[in-house]
Amino acid sequence: MSSPLFVAIDTPDAERAKAIATRVRNHVGGIKLGLEFFCANGRHGVREMAELGLPIFLDLKFHDIPNTVGKAIQALRPLEPAILTVHAAGGRAMMEDAKAAAPLGTKVVAVTVLTSLDEDDLEAIGIAGDAQAQVARLTLLAREAGLDGLVCSGNEVAAAKKLWPDGFFVVPGVRLPDGHAGDQKRVMTPRKALDAGASILVVGRPITQAPDPDIAARAIEATL
Ligand code: C5P
Repeated sequence: MSSPLFVAIDTPDAERAKAIATRVRNHVGGIKLGLEFFCANGRHGVREMAELGLPIFLDLKFHDIPNTVGKAIQALRPLEPAILTVHAAGGRAMMEDAKAAAPLGTKVVAVTVLTSLDEDDLEAIGIAGDAQAQVARLTLLAREAGLDGLVCSGNEVAAAKKLWPDGFFVVPGVRLPDGHAGDQKRVMTPRKALDAGASILVVGRPITQAPDPDIAARAIEATL
């Protein structure tokens, strides 16, 4: 089985992205590219990264009317990304159209509540009360809409798996015990995250900012 470790290459700089991916290609299972990379380099940039031969996780977190999201995903079809993200808050019809527009082999996973929002932020946008309840509600909605799974923290994955036993769970915020958490507040080790039910792990800075990204990726892989 290929490695569950996906490296988040969070840069708009295509040359830097390629350099990191080339270094780590033998010790990761795939590459996550986000909005900054896509806005700077577009489909062409993604295609160049895909030429390295690793599965591509395109983390664009779509959230718009169903027709627009469906057409946006159709426009990405030639790239055949392994994984795509949408916001569950876009609603059931949007998620259904997203899934229908994606290539058969692409997993479409939902973001429930952004971890950058605290209870005050949620109240300010009209979601009063328990954030956990909102996460659970959107988890069930994503499952009903026929998506493949969720993005969630290591702390949430066990509960999410109970609600969605055959879901595909993407877990970011993963750190080795001696690693720097950076701005991640709730971190978990890679091994624990897998034991809790993660399908894949997303690791960014511990690999991309390491003096030798390949050694860092190997060190994480060795714990899995
Ligand atoms: O550098 P680090 O390992 O913290 O990067 C984690 C990656 O996962 C980043 O691309 C970040 O945007 C993403 N992510 C996250 N927390 C979430 C959702 C996504 O850190 N709740």
